[in-house]
Amino acid sequence: MSITTENEMIGMQHASDAVAATLKKMREFAKPGISTKELDDYGGELLAQMGARSAPLLTYDFPGYTCISINGEVAHGIPSAGKILKEGDLVNIDVSAELNGYWADNGGSFVLGEDIYGHGRLVETSKEILRKAISNIKGGVRISEIGRLIETEARKAGYTVIKNLTGHGVGRNLHEEPHEIANYCDRFNISRFKKNSVVAIETFISTRSTIADTQADGWTLRGNKGGFVAQHEHTIMVTGGQPVILTARNGIWE
Ligand code: CO
Ligand code: CO
Repeated sequence: MSITTENEMIGMQHASDAVAATLKKMREFAKPGISTKELDDYGGELLAQMGARSAPLLTYDFPGYTCISINGEVAHGIPSAGKILKEGDLVNIDVSAELNGYWADNGGSFVLGEDIYGHGRLVETSKEILRKAISNIKGGVRISEIGRLIETEARKAGYTVIKNLTGHGVGRNLHEEPHEIANYCDRFNISRFKKNSVVAIETFISTRSTIADTQADGWTLRGNKGGFVAQHEHTIMVTGGQPVILTARNGIWE
């Protein structure tokens, strides 16, 4: 959506605060021994307390309030009582929701407890790439240029990017125009970021894979060449200068 009034700005900020607070609290709640279902139920309660409704549940009938992807799962992991979090797991939580007609989306990967498997560098690289990508977005910048930046930075660090998962417009729906803000330079995408538009920018940085494939459960995505993926996502408003980071309170950069 494009923000044209003060009320729209306030509405978008409230929805963004709700998903940001939920993501932050879920990350703090996550600990070895609990199931991803317990973690998701906690997230669902937090959203409900704020009057927000889970976007994947509402939009896609996803079997959970949030997506929780562990280790080799790239995204859209289904919360499950049988999936128990362990020390050193690479965990991704993605929280998106609707509040009073406004939709916001954010996510982040982190290492649970001690980094015994060495996922830390992947996580830190993804965070830094998101920071750099967002700081280069303003009205008039080509979407493909941001994709080029993300892929170039990933390559410099020895990583690949997932090409079939992208950032997207958000605001009046979970996914809206522009539909594909890719993590590589898509030369067929000639569109540009528009001032006052709301977009979700997300990284998909991988140790090996370039494509995410849907698994037999119909939801979970895994890399075509295995390995691990880190994702970090903020909902932002594009301006003529530095973007307004609407989900800043999720603390993914702290
Ligand atoms: Co998301
Ligand atoms: Co998103």
